[in-house]
Amino acid sequence: MDFSDERLSYEKGILSEPMLFDNPLQLLEQWIQEATEHGAPEPYAVSLATCGNDSMPGVRAVLVREINDEGLVFYTNYLSHKGEDIEQNPNAEALFFWHEMQRQVRLRGHIRKVDRATTDAYFHKRPYESQIGAWVSEPQSGEVASREVMDAKFAQLKQQYPEGSQVPTPDFWGGYQIEAVEIEFWQGRPNRLHDRLLYRLKDATDAASEVANNSAVEHSKWTVTRLLP
Ligand SMILES: Cc1cc2nc3c(=O)[nH]c(=O)nc-3n(C[C@H](O)[C@H](O)[C@H](O)COP(=O)(O)O)c2cc1C
Repeated sequence: MDFSDERLSYEKGILSEPMLFDNPLQLLEQWIQEATEHGAPEPYAVSLATCGNDSMPGVRAVLVREINDEGLVFYTNYLSHKGEDIEQNPNAEALFFWHEMQRQVRLRGHIRKVDRATTDAYFHKRPYESQIGAWVSEPQSGEVASREVMDAKFAQLKQQYPEGSQVPTPDFWGGYQIEAVEIEFWQGRPNRLHDRLLYRLKDATDAASEVANNSAVEHSKWTVTRLLP
C-alpha cells in the first residue's frame, strides 16, 4: 500500500503559553477530559516504550489507571517483556494520542513498582474474570502451545477460586508508577507548524542550557520550552 498522497490538515486547535498550568499533570487531565468529551475511546490508553539491556526498544498499549502528582500509574505482569525491560532499565516513555483532538502527549520518566497495598486494592476492583485472567498469563509474553491450553487453565483456575471467593493477587502482577521528568504537549496545526510545549522537571534540567536558552519560561517545579515542530 502507498499512503504517500494521504494528507490531513490539522486545524482543530492551538496550544499557546497562556493556556498552560504550573503543573503539567493538570493540563494532561484537562486534555484527557476534552478527549473524552470528543468521544475518544479509552482516552487514558497509552503506548508505553521501554528498553532493556539489549538496546531494542519495545512498545505496547497499556491503560493508565491513575494520574497523580508524580505522573501516572498502570498495571501489568512483572514477568512480561516490559517487566524485564523495566527491571534492567527503570526508565519509560508513555504516549497518549487522541486523533479526535489532533493532540499527543509524551510523558517520560523513571519507573518503579507501586506498593503492594495499592496493587491489592486495584486488583480486587477488577471484575472476577479479569482477576482469573491475570493468573492465566504466567508469565505474560511467554509462549503458549495453543488457545485451548489457555482456556483450560482459565477453567481450572475458576474452579480453584470460585466466584465470590477472594482471588489472591498474583505476586508477579502489579502496578508501575512513572515519575515524570518530561511532559510534551503537542497540538497539530496547519502546514505542519504544530505547537509543541515541553515541560521539564527543573532538577532534570541542565541549568546552563536553561540560561542560554532565553525561550525557557519559569513554571514552578517545571521549565517550559517551545519546540520546533
Ligand atoms: C488498548 C489496550 C490496552 C491494554 N492495556 C494493558 C494493560 O493495562 N496492561 C497490560 O499488561 N497489557 C495491556 N494491553 C496488552 C499490551 O499491549 C501487551 O500486549 C501486553 O502487556 C504484553 O506486552 P509485553 O510483551 O511488551 O510486556 C493492552 C492492549 C491494548 C490494545
